[in-house]
Amino acid sequence: MKTYREAISSAAYRMRGHLPESIRILSDALDALETDPLPDQYGTGSVIENFQARISNDLGKEQSVFFPSGTMAQQIALRIWCDEMQLMRLAYHPLCHLEIHEQDGLKELHHIETVLLGEADRLFTMADLKTVGNVACVLFELPQREIGGQLPAWDDLVEMVSYCASRGFHTHLDGARLLECLPFYEKTAAEVCALFDSVYLSFYKSLGGVTGAMLSGTAAFMEKAKIWKRRHGRDLYHLYPYVLTAGYAYDLRKDNMSGYWSHAKAYCRQLNRIKGFRTVPDVPVCNMFHLHMEHSLEKVEAALVNVMETHDVSLLGGLSVRDGKTVSEIWMGDSCMLVPEELLDTALEMLARELG
Ligand SMILES: Cc1ncc(COP(=O)(O)O)c(C=O)c1O
Repeated sequence: MKTYREAISSAAYRMRGHLPESIRILSDALDALETDPLPDQYGTGSVIENFQARISNDLGKEQSVFFPSGTMAQQIALRIWCDEMQLMRLAYHPLCHLEIHEQDGLKELHHIETVLLGEADRLFTMADLKTVGNVACVLFELPQREIGGQLPAWDDLVEMVSYCASRGFHTHLDGARLLECLPFYEKTAAEVCALFDSVYLSFYKSLGGVTGAMLSGTAAFMEKAKIWKRRHGRDLYHLYPYVLTAGYAYDLRKDNMSGYWSHAKAYCRQLNRIKGFRTVPDVPVCNMFHLHMEHSLEKVEAALVNVMETHDVSLLGGLSVRDGKTVSEIWMGDSCMLVPEELLDTALEMLARELG
């Protein structure tokens, strides 16, 4: 019998993400080029500069700099705000990427102290912000990935950001999935970004690029970011394979988010009908959500493998255990659009039967 991972990678259909990742994206990105630009060098050259200018324009920010990773970009952004305020303290959600996935980079490399806002299983609120002492910056992650991609209501977000401004706190947006939020807010990227002093956007995740991130803000802020980038490992000699594929993926999928979101809502309705299943949030506010299952990880894995062997469709994403529940993070992309409805219904029925 195949392992769960093996079965997912050989399934013909998937209810998660984009088509199996392919290195063909490199040739697709090259084929899409209308000119034959020279390679960038150490962060300069038309390939990188034109893309940075384009994203600055779309996000309504003065300047942008392309980074190999969001991890690098955000630690740098937060360090700059702390230096500017001469206060090495900032506040963010207890489950934000910097707190749980970056091996304490902020603390170890930059000696920045962090204040956790609210509780791990919910969004932070105005009431949580009001308990914070002085901080240099508050980081907002939209959507909040680790709790199923939840989003505060627009008015609450505006109120919280205004409150930060009134206390002199800078605000940074972890917008790894910024474009995914736009259909829910019914706003443009620039309208959302206007709330924040600095913004980071990722080109993989729902956009499906190879890797890469953009950090955007004022020209003065970005000049400082360039210096810190050099300190953090400097510009790679050539970044064009990442820049070109990021640009290609951005053009390909930036306007698809509302379709992905509709699919997420429909899929949540189907999953919530299965006994012992509960999606978080109940109704998704973007193309991602988490599924909490009252069955053991082993049981869920075995049932999913059986479904894949019978119907050739992978129904969930990776599995983990949290608070005694089996959890899967699911996000809708191109692959989900290709799964025939009847096949999905039959596969879900089989999954429900297998789990009893
Ligand atoms: C919300 C969020 N922020 C930041 C990052 C870091 O991005 P990168 O992998 O480019 O370092 C991720 C990556 O998964 C993320 O999900």
